[in-house]
Amino acid sequence: MALNMVIMAAGRGTRMKSSLPKVMHRLAGRPLLNHVLACAADLGPQKTVVVVGHGAEVIRAAYPDAQWTWALQEPQRGTGHAVLQAVPHLDSTAATTVVLNGDVPLLRSQSVQALVNACQGQVLALLTVTLDDPTGYGRILRDERGRVRGIVEHKDASAEQLRIREVYTGTLAAPTGHLCQWVRALRSDNAQQEYYLTDIVAMAVAQGMEVSAVQPHDATEVLGINSPAQLADLERRYQVIQAQQLMDAGVRLSDPARLDVRGQLRCGQDVEIDINCIFEGHVELGDNVRVGAHCFVRNARIHSGAVLQPYTHVDGDDTGVTVGAMARVGPFARLRAGAELGQDVHVGNFVEVKNSTLGNGAKANHLAYLGDATVGARVNYGAGSITANYDGVNKHRTVIGDDALVGSNCVLIAPVTIGAGATIGGGSTVSKDVPAGQLTVARARQTSLSHWQRPSKKPPKG
Ligand code: UD1
Ligand code: CA
Repeated sequence: MALNMVIMAAGRGTRMKSSLPKVMHRLAGRPLLNHVLACAADLGPQKTVVVVGHGAEVIRAAYPDAQWTWALQEPQRGTGHAVLQAVPHLDSTAATTVVLNGDVPLLRSQSVQALVNACQGQVLALLTVTLDDPTGYGRILRDERGRVRGIVEHKDASAEQLRIREVYTGTLAAPTGHLCQWVRALRSDNAQQEYYLTDIVAMAVAQGMEVSAVQPHDATEVLGINSPAQLADLERRYQVIQAQQLMDAGVRLSDPARLDVRGQLRCGQDVEIDINCIFEGHVELGDNVRVGAHCFVRNARIHSGAVLQPYTHVDGDDTGVTVGAMARVGPFARLRAGAELGQDVHVGNFVEVKNSTLGNGAKANHLAYLGDATVGARVNYGAGSITANYDGVNKHRTVIGDDALVGSNCVLIAPVTIGAGATIGGGSTVSKDVPAGQLTVARARQTSLSHWQRPSKKPPKG
């Protein structure tokens, strides 16, 4: 059945005490609004309208390729007024319209689908939940036969009504035509002088329409974010859910409470992840991969059997990073965008690799920089060596042939090519191509002066 989606995101979010619009605050690395949009998209709506107001320009600018329609609510006079701004954009042939709160990020599409099924374009269906502490939420009013009669907002509720623990979650599905009529008829004679969307329930009841209440699978789904403390709380809950899913799939986490996944983490079999690791964007860990404590990994593929030792920083940025099978990286290594490590590669402490390919078995074990380099198989790249890839204007490539050995503390001034099997003496500054197979030394020759004497201390004057 065809569907409209309305996402309300115009509110100020006063309690966040932030200049950033509330729906742009991040949960698991993505704005709250992304989570809600993803949930909405799962239902395959005909039309999606996002109502913005406070910080509208900032929000719109964050989505240059928006597939939905923006509606502007200016000023913001309540949730009913927000939906009213969406009305002109709705597809009137879609029988059901769903309204979602932009600040409820963990809502699952299955729960919304249940709501849509209950609505059928004929019934007003509310997503409700029973909370131990219903403070701040609109309370569900039922009659003696248990039928829903209305919603009263916390600020308008009587002492008796405040004891009701069944609350409205901010999500409903309504027959489109009726919803449009109702929001046009709303009044703002209440404690907050706002147009409450929740007042449509009493209107539906007055018209003899059935109102049904549907519950989500889990109460966590419908928690809203109004403050930094609630944001942090939901972040943790979300991380716990992800950690549980990983463990269910066989991933061994040293401590599920000390894992952060901000994006998608796909793991093979027998993956082990130590404490305090952060995964961002798209990360793939192959079979038997081990990730040591305190690693940061973003947009990367780590192939089977590879080990990221503690404190390794991998940031593939837009290009990605690849770590080959059985490779060992870290501790304290830094792999940047375009680092492609072959099988059995070793990258050790304080080694930075950017936009460089390392052939199978290549090693850079200590204190080194490889930028814009093509490094052959089994190359040994010495401690303290760097590729001088930037001439102040342009970047140039360094090519190092298979089996070459670059001694310690060398500077390879790009563009430059080191032939296969070449050996570069330690401390060399290499600015010309190096032939294969030979020893090349490019530094001042060592001399010793036999008749040299240390100066002696002059006697004090006077
Ligand atoms: C609302 C409900 C309340 C429910 C709660 C669940 C109303 C009147 N109350 O209260 O019954 O228990 O959600 O979380 O609907 N918004 C606009 N324009 C506005 C005002 C708000 O777009 O003029 C948006 C906000 O950005 C937010 C959502 O609507 O995404 C909810 O607004 P909020 O002020 O947080 O409503 P609550 O007081 O939490
Ligand atoms: Ca809210």
